[in-house]
Order: sequence, then structure tokens, then C-alpha cells
Amino acid sequence: MRLKIAVLAGDGIGPEVTNEATHILKAVAELGGHDFTFVPLLIGGIAITEAGTPLPTATLDATLECDAALLGAVGDNKFNALSPDKRPEAGLLQIRQALGGFANLRPSIAYKALSASSPLLPEVTENVNILFVRELLGGLYFGEPRWWNKESDEAINTMRYTKAEVVRVARVAFELAAKRRGKVTSVDKANVLEVSQLWRATVTEVAKDYPSVTLEHQLVDSMAMHLMNIPRNFDVVLTENLFGDILSDEAGVITGSLGMLPSATLGGTVNLYEPVHGSAPDIAGTGKANPLGAILTAAMILRHSAGLEADAKAVEVAVHKVLDAGYRTSDIARGSAQTVSTQEMGKLVHQAL
Ligand code: NAI
Ligand code: MG
Repeated sequence: MRLKIAVLAGDGIGPEVTNEATHILKAVAELGGHDFTFVPLLIGGIAITEAGTPLPTATLDATLECDAALLGAVGDNKFNALSPDKRPEAGLLQIRQALGGFANLRPSIAYKALSASSPLLPEVTENVNILFVRELLGGLYFGEPRWWNKESDEAINTMRYTKAEVVRVARVAFELAAKRRGKVTSVDKANVLEVSQLWRATVTEVAKDYPSVTLEHQLVDSMAMHLMNIPRNFDVVLTENLFGDILSDEAGVITGSLGMLPSATLGGTVNLYEPVHGSAPDIAGTGKANPLGAILTAAMILRHSAGLEADAKAVEVAVHKVLDAGYRTSDIARGSAQTVSTQEMGKLVHQAL
């Protein structure tokens, strides 16, 4: 298997966690006889410093030549005085848009060893493994018209979807569910919103092509409650942009730490993979960053861009093993756990692999 991976490490803890993730990918390549190449590229604050802009053309062009992009995090307090379109974060928004991925995948997994890190009861989170599929290019975030004319007492955003936009993201959810536990929960607000009625009718139609997958519909408000009460009832959760933004953050509580959460954005020219957390300037350079979110993101590259399901699972099992053995970075350390650094955690996962 050959794979060319753009590595956009970015700022703060971005390079620290990305480094551990690429080490794991190199180990997988060595163990499996794969040919992975890594292309380091500038993005964010470091790109402003070295190339004068948060997303240099050279970065975008080189990323478009790759099979997958691994992004660390962007953001640096020293650029806080700049306007939003010049700041490091602008580079992230620009590359997401330029790559054009429409299906944002966010797993929410309960690790038995980390049950003390989650405020939820262990009996509630036991065996939870949810995959959110959030539509990323439509809905309220992009719909026109949108304005707040500062002199007026009125503002508007538009929730808009076309059937084609719903079909393509629904297909991603059903394909994934067919390879998992065979269930899709589609979330909407069809009792109030016309857009949700189109969403529900379209998802129901797409479901006919996937007889092995069970479809259920949930209203977003009661879904918010079910996620905290009976999260193990869910396998793949399919939602539009805003609902997915909110619900996937809510479900982050199930895992317990921001440093543990991976993500992937599929469907664009190049798939984009990034841990959910930011550049964490408060702990950058201290060796405290948890690299597991980035390492689990690397596993998603193996699964979704390389078709190496067994290798992806092996990385995830290695993460479970290290946690079960009691090793913790400081964000997930409780009681007598053994606290290790970013690099030590990366090495432990490598050894377990
Ligand atoms: P953040 O995610 O960087 O940090 C929030 C808190 O979680 C901090 O206390 C941090 O130390 C901790 N944390 C985050 N990741 C961790 C990890 N892997 N291990 C251990 N602890 C971890 O969010 P914050 O503080 O709101 O933003 C900091 C900067 O990051 C800002 O410039 C922001 O714009 C940027 N940002 C970038 C994102 C991205 O690149 N995808 C996403 C979110 C924020
Ligand atoms: Mg969010």
C-alpha cells in the first residue's frame, strides 16, 4: 500500500502530537511493508511567521497532491491582535473549504480505563462506541441570505439543504454503519422545520439501498438527552451541520478528555484528518499534551484513506492496552495513575503495537 500524507503540524502542541502520530504511521508501514511518505507543510501561526500568510499557496498545492492530510492544530496568542481573516485560525478554515470535505466523522468512545475521567456513570458509558457523521458544508453555517446590519434590530441566517447534499452524506453514514453494528440514527427537528422534513424523507429513501442497516429517526432535543442517558443505544449518528456540531461536543463527555478525540473529514478532494483539540498554548512545550487524539486520528487515516482496517484496529487496540496498563498523560490522570509525557505515551503505543 502506498500513501502520501501531507503533515500540517501547525502551532502549539500541534507539532508535538503530530510527531507521535506520524511515528505510529511509520511503525505501521514498517510492520506491514507499506510505503508511506510524509510531506511536512506550513499552516497557521508558523506559516504567518515563515511565509506571511496562514495558508500559503505552496501548502495548499502540495496538499492537493497527497492522498490524505494530517493536521495538528493552529492558533498562537501572539497573533491575537490580528483581524480574524489574518489569524492562524483562518488557515484552518481556508484549507477545510479548499479541500471541500462534506462528511465530518467524530467517534465517541468510552474507554473502560478512563471511566473516572468522564462525569457520566461507568454503567452508563460501558461499551459505548458512537460514530457521528456530521454534514459540514450546508445548513445554517452557509445558507444565504445571512446578515446582521449593525444598525438594525434584526439578523438572519438561513437553514438550507438540497436533496443531493443530504443523499451524499447519508450514503457515507450507511456505508460506515454496514461495516459496524448496522444502525443509523438520523437526527433532525422534523416536527418544526421544513429542512428537517426534507432531511428525514431523503434519509428514509437512501436507507432502502442498505437493507442490512436499521434506520431510526430522533428529534434533536430528545437526542441530546438520550446521549447522556443511554449512549450505548447508538452506532452511527447522522446529522446536519449545527446539530452535529453541538451533539458531537456533548458526546465528547463520554470519552472524558479533549486530548482523546480524533476526527476525519471525508468526501473532498483530499480527506482531512485532525484531532478535535486546539493548539493548547497553556501546555505547549511542557510535554503534557496527550497525543492519543492525534494517534487515533492516524488510525482513521489507515481506515478511511488506506483501506487498512486491520491496521487501524491494531492502533486502536494498542491505545486501549496502554490505558489498561495504567499509563496516563496529565489530562487523564486520576489518583495513583502513572503520569507520562507526550513522547513517552507515543513510545508506549508503539511498543503495544
Ligand atoms: P484547546 O483545545 O487548545 O485547549 C482547551 C483546553 O484543553 C486547554 O486547557 C488545553 O491545555 C487542553 N487540551 C487540549 N488539547 C489537549 C491535549 N491533546 N492534551 C492535554 N490537554 C489538552 O482550545 P482553546 O484553549 O480554546 O484554544 C487554544 C488555541 O487553539 C486558540 O488559538 C484556538 O483558536 C485554537 N484552536 C484550534 C483548533 C484547531 O486547530 N482545530 C480547534 C480549537 C481551538
Ligand atoms: Mg464545535
